[in-house]
Order: sequence, then structure tokens, then C-alpha cells
Amino acid sequence: MLLRVLGTAAGGGLPQWNCACPGCSGARRHPQRVRRHASLAVRADDARWYVVNATPDIGDQIESHPELHPGPGHRDTPVAGVVLTDAELDHTLGIARLREARALDVLATGPVRGALLERLRLGDILGPYTGISWRPLPHTPQPLIEGGPLEISAIPVASKRPRYAADDAPADDWVVALRLADRATGGTLVYAPALAAWPDALQRAAAEADCVIVDGTFWDDHEPRRAGFTERTSTAMGHLPIDGPHGTARRLRGLDARCLYTHLNNTNPLGDPAAEEHKLLAEWGIEAAADGMVIEL
Ligand code: MLT
Ligand code: MN
Ligand code: ZN
Repeated sequence: MLLRVLGTAAGGGLPQWNCACPGCSGARRHPQRVRRHASLAVRADDARWYVVNATPDIGDQIESHPELHPGPGHRDTPVAGVVLTDAELDHTLGIARLREARALDVLATGPVRGALLERLRLGDILGPYTGISWRPLPHTPQPLIEGGPLEISAIPVASKRPRYAADDAPADDWVVALRLADRATGGTLVYAPALAAWPDALQRAAAEADCVIVDGTFWDDHEPRRAGFTERTSTAMGHLPIDGPHGTARRLRGLDARCLYTHLNNTNPLGDPAAEEHKLLAEWGIEAAADGMVIEL
């Protein structure tokens, strides 16, 4: 299984266009700190890649990685489809950016598909431009593409709805973790860029995985309040923090897998490569994912 990390920032990116906080200002001064919206490209077979979450940066993310470039025919593209972990705008707005596609395969759970079709009206809006074929994201492992080596399944992790669909019906698969398994190599990945809870099914999948990449939006539960943009804690915002009694680091430290954090908010101290928190992560055997990383499983 070949993976390319296309981005590692939470909604807004790093820097966020309207933000002069220390993290965003630091990224403007030091371009190596820039992080695009969290996304992952997965090679489905020799010719096709799927993008996990289509972000507002998807055009630049494709251009930055030659394996995603079009060719040899003028309109041949290796980008065959999109897999969605949730319906949040930072993970879905990029679908509209792909409207020039001849066809697009989109895998999503029922509630996510419903939000995109009924709330964002993506089907109506994009219908005149391209053909989207919607596929349910299976809860039991199914081939990602027919005849390909990868199997995909979704593990429900939260019933958190996006703000634009806040009055939609609750369901346990509004937010899911993805499990990808390569039948040829035996390699397995768990990818969960949004985590409001750590259910037993996620623990079981993580315990068997070779690589686990999870929500690292906030370092600790009070970071959003300290930063002054909300009264809510990280957990109340639908993101388990990294550190603290209910932090995900405690979970990751007990795993055999290579463990990484993604979806870093611009307030997260990990945005600064010199931050002490990187030393703590290293002591715990955990990494912050970086844009452009290649992972082979
Ligand atoms: C989230 O991850 O909580 C959302 O993407 C927040 C947002 O709407 O930007
Ligand atoms: Mn987000
Ligand atoms: Zn900022």
C-alpha cells in the first residue's frame, strides 16, 4: 500500500487566510511551517489513486505530487475518486474543484452523502459538469476497486454533524475512521482525521494496524479556550485532544503501529517545529505527520 500525505492542517489551513495568531504568523514567516488541509492519497492500483477527503487545497495538492498529474492523454488522470471520512467543509469542498473530471467515484456513508446532496446540493450543482457515482462506504471490508489489492471499511467514531447540517438526524456514522488493508502485502492503515471518541471497534482496528494516523487538532482540551476563539473545549468541539487523561496519546502509546497525528489546528503548538511538545511526542514514539510524507505498508 502506497500513501502520500497531501496535507495535515485542520479547517482553515496553516496559515489561515484571516488569522494573525502566533501559529499563522509563524507560518507566514517560515514557509516550511505551512500545512495544507488534511488529506491523504492512496494508490488503488498501478494507474489509479483515491484521495481521502477533498479539501479546498486539492488543486494545489494534486499539482504538488507528480504521481497525481494527468497523462499520457490530455484528459487522463490517475485521480479516480474520493473517499470521505465526514461531511465537514474542509473535507468536502474540494469535490466541486474536481468538476472538470470525466467521472468521479465518491465513497461516503449514508448521512455524509445525504448532507452533500440535500444540504450542499452537490449533485444538482455538479450534474451539468461531471458524473459523480456515489458508493456507500462499507462497514465490513470490501475492495476499494474491483480486482485491486486494497480493501476498505469504515468504523463509526462520531455522530457529530457539520454546522450546516446541525439539524439533520443523528447517526453513528456521520464521522468514521477508515481501515485500509492491502491483501498483497498484509499492510493495514487506520486513518481517522476527526475523532470525538475512541470506540472499542477503533481500538481493535488500531491494535491490529501497521500505521495509525489520527486527529491531532488540539494538543490539550483547553487549547481552544486559551486561544480565545471559543468557550468550548477540544472534546466539546468533536476532537479528542492529544494530551491529558482522555487524550489520544495514551491510546497510541499502547499500540505497536507507527502512529502519527494529522488535522493540526493553527493553535496547536506542534505547528512550531521547535516546540517542546515535539520532544514529548518523540518520547512517546509518536510523530506529527508532515505534508508530502510517503508511507508504504
Ligand atoms: C472540524 O474539524 O471540526 C471542522 O472542520 C470545523 C470547521 O467547520 O472548520
Ligand atoms: Mn476539520
Ligand atoms: Zn491562526
